[in-house]
Amino acid sequence: MTQPAIRLKVNGRIHEVDAAADTALLYVLRNDLELNGPKYGCGLGECGTCTVLIDGVAARSCVIPISGCLNREILTLEGLGSPSDPDPVQEAFIREQAAQCGYCLNGMIMTTKALLMRNPKPTEAEAREALRYNLCRCGAHIEIVRAVMRAAGRTVEVQD
Ligand code: FES
Repeated sequence: MTQPAIRLKVNGRIHEVDAAADTALLYVLRNDLELNGPKYGCGLGECGTCTVLIDGVAARSCVIPISGCLNREILTLEGLGSPSDPDPVQEAFIREQAAQCGYCLNGMIMTTKALLMRNPKPTEAEAREALRYNLCRCGAHIEIVRAVMRAAGRTVEVQD
């Protein structure tokens, strides 16, 4: 018996997805919808590189089944902005050169976006707390925190 297609709203568009209900959202985004902003890192919900926003909340798409995304608004990095019209968070990360290899960048940016949506003027401590569970193995944390502060419109001398 064929399974009915699952409808997902991603970046403002409805998509009919032909996948099992327990398929991780990350696989559908990358493999079916060709949205490769979210990355596969640990696959265990621990590194944060697969982060998307679901109803405005940062969520780890590698451990969320698509059955849990029905009637919800999914936002990926692609929906945030474009090279010609970047979101202020993306612009801040570019201005601060807040990446080295760039693999964690999707998660850092999406988690920052979620932070600023609920707290537009975070302190440096609040920014560090929000990004605490997003891993960067290159050690670009100082530039990343500076980028968050820039996106929040704050000028803070971030200490090492
Ligand atoms: Fe999803 Fe690491 S790949 S948290």
